[in-house]
Amino acid sequence: MLIAHISDTHIAGPGLKTNGIAPMAENLSRCVDAINVLTVQPDLVLLSGDVTNDATRDEALRAGEILAGLDSPLYLVPGNHDDRDVLWDVFGGGAIPARADGFINYVINGPDLRIIALDSVAQGQSGGMFCETRSAWLRAALADGGDQPTVIFMHHPPLKCGVPETDQDGFDGANELGAIIAAYPNIQRILCGHIHLQTAARWNGTVVTTAPSMGMQLTLDLTQAHPSKFYLTDPGYLLHHWTPDKVLITHAVTVRDMDGPYDFRQH
Ligand SMILES: [Fe+2]
Repeated sequence: MLIAHISDTHIAGPGLKTNGIAPMAENLSRCVDAINVLTVQPDLVLLSGDVTNDATRDEALRAGEILAGLDSPLYLVPGNHDDRDVLWDVFGGGAIPARADGFINYVINGPDLRIIALDSVAQGQSGGMFCETRSAWLRAALADGGDQPTVIFMHHPPLKCGVPETDQDGFDGANELGAIIAAYPNIQRILCGHIHLQTAARWNGTVVTTAPSMGMQLTLDLTQAHPSKFYLTDPGYLLHHWTPDKVLITHAVTVRDMDGPYDFRQH
């Protein structure tokens, strides 16, 4: 099974660049085209939040038009730049197949992996949240799946990743979430976005992976002494391959023209 994982598309309104400078709609189009020509088509594409930049319906519609070009089925969760109701209005019944208790929580039964979409947004705040309502839903969803190999995807990583703003914003309820995760060794991975950098970390018995953004890469400054800025970069995404050996291998892909390919083995 193959999962393409994109994140933080931050689409601005029609005709606009994000923050006045980042061509995010163009970048997303390039990424959609690149995924469509992969030699093995993904079984599904996951978008881990910040679909829009300012949470507007126009932005969500523009994102939807571009994402409609994907040949593989798309599923998404909200980020702190999104509005749940706007996303449900535009993507409900499609890329958001269901809601639970007002949150964008749902389960996809993939061919080999069970995917749990978890809404980590605290309305009006930048940081993540895992509340009692979501805790009850997640515990039930995990219990339903038994020991099937499972992937959780949500916007906010539940740990500090070394980015000043997102570390300061934090994740309310991360310890409660971690206690649930630790009880399910079948959780292969937690897939996140939010920090606009690619990272991987062991956490409560699983691995948390963050995807790169669609071309607004945050500065990497582990001193935490300076506010984050962003670079305009080529769009990037992750390919998570659940192999016949039942291992989830993650490949990082940057969407750009490359010189080659050349023969690797010289005879
Ligand atoms: Fe973002």
